[in-house]
Amino acid sequence: MSKRFFLTTAIDYVNGAPHLGHAYEKVVADVIARSCRSRGGSVFFLTGLDEHGQKVQQAAQEQGKSPQEYCDALAEQWRDFVARLGISNDDFIRTTEPRHQRVVQAILTRLHAEDHFYKAEYRGFYSVREETFLTEKDRNPDGTWDPKWGTVNELVEENWYFRLGRHQAWLIEHIEANPGFIEPETRRNEVLGFLRSQTLGDLCISRPASRLAWGIPIPFDPGYVTYVWFDALVNYFSVPVSRGDPAASAPLGGPPPAPSDLEPVWPPDVHLIGKDILKFHAVYWPIMLRALGVPLPRKLLTHGWWQKDGAKLSKSTGNVVDPLAVVAEWGLDAFRYYVVRELDIGPDGNWTDEGFRVRYNAELANGLGNLLNRSVNMLNRYRGGVIPQVSTELSADTETAVRETVSHLEAHRLQDALVSIWSLVNRANLYVEQTRPFSLAKDPSQAARLDEVLYNLVEVCRILAVLLWPFLPGTSEKIYLQLQASGSPDRMDRAAWGGLKPGDRIGAAEPLFPRKDLK
Ligand code: ME8
Ligand code: MG
Repeated sequence: MSKRFFLTTAIDYVNGAPHLGHAYEKVVADVIARSCRSRGGSVFFLTGLDEHGQKVQQAAQEQGKSPQEYCDALAEQWRDFVARLGISNDDFIRTTEPRHQRVVQAILTRLHAEDHFYKAEYRGFYSVREETFLTEKDRNPDGTWDPKWGTVNELVEENWYFRLGRHQAWLIEHIEANPGFIEPETRRNEVLGFLRSQTLGDLCISRPASRLAWGIPIPFDPGYVTYVWFDALVNYFSVPVSRGDPAASAPLGGPPPAPSDLEPVWPPDVHLIGKDILKFHAVYWPIMLRALGVPLPRKLLTHGWWQKDGAKLSKSTGNVVDPLAVVAEWGLDAFRYYVVRELDIGPDGNWTDEGFRVRYNAELANGLGNLLNRSVNMLNRYRGGVIPQVSTELSADTETAVRETVSHLEAHRLQDALVSIWSLVNRANLYVEQTRPFSLAKDPSQAARLDEVLYNLVEVCRILAVLLWPFLPGTSEKIYLQLQASGSPDRMDRAAWGGLKPGDRIGAAEPLFPRKDLK
């Protein structure tokens, strides 16, 4: 059986409020998933929540709830958030689920038995907010700690360590030999620079249960739970194992998985992550998998961070974008369009309300929306909504746009794909200005020419719906509905010229993106 394209997002900390960065990552992943399905691929798209750790334990305590109750309530909000963004994930993992905890414990047992861990005393500093140990190097020159670390506590405690040093050489070779493993290239160079210039310290993978009870117990040492990152990364693996995936299950030993008619998914094709968590994914995660003898993920696709009005997103200063409020005011597809069109996968981005309005009005309302609206209106007005003979005047330009879009989608260049699609939108709007169908309609001798123009316009609109489906599935379906096109726009092979059949009747025009006055 062929393998499904396995795509993941980071799993979000359950205790943080869903924000623009979370929404962006999910929308980007969703576009990749849908575009793969549209091109005939079979996809397994996973997202979910990271629910253990000290911050969760503390927040639950403050609210007088058990950590599990606290997580259960928040998990509902997160699921709702994902649903309202139109995300087409196939599974949703919560790290408090037994299917996940079982696998984390099996991995710990296995790596312990093979001498990948040792126990030692740790003295040093710990950032609760970032769930990470700090060294003297992390201090400011004046001896203070950067506020980004939150409360920093001094600790002396025994812990379990993962021997990373023996993995440094092959990891460097692997990253060098596989240019696509970390994208974009700037991020790959960052990781290589780090690995070549520093000796990998061992990774502390435990926390004493006396200090942190809200974690997965370490099976071979009852006084400890495992480090939240060791737990969280495993989500990508525990889900395939729990589905009986052979490549993922075999290394854990035990009875072979029950024969399953599910297509295998391991290894992951794309882990979509933000730049701040690259080291965990590019260093710790591959080492964990290699130590287990499991094939490595194929690509870490690393996106940048959003700011708003040139400043960091921050709840305390109120510098935030509430994705669901934007969706409520402007519609889901306007939000999805803006974030993918504005920010390429890689660099940092800057949200401005003004920039959003400008793109909405220029590209969605006046660009795509106006094209569909006048095309559908004119065909209804001049030809009673009946599709004329096939004409191919715009077919070559359309084929070019389709070819470019597909090649960008194959390379996950989503922003470039939208640029190609809008070149077709603009071409078709220009065609209206050049051919002047409203003038042709006044001259009976131009009836055949008007037929040609109208066919080209509605057929371009139909193909635009197909190209747009991964990005704006709701809009794409509305276009198909207005054109009364047969089938669904969810398959790229429908982007071939001539799909609208002469003699069929289209539906009524309805604005896709109602114009909003610029304030
Ligand atoms: O890091 N712009 O969770 P998280 C763009 N639980 N992306 C942003 C962003 C911003 N302003 N802020 C955050 C965690 N992100 C861990 C992950 S994975 C095994 C465990 C991105 O809720 C961030 O880069 O802090 C990350 O990819 C995702 O949101 C979740 O961040
Ligand atoms: Mg974070």
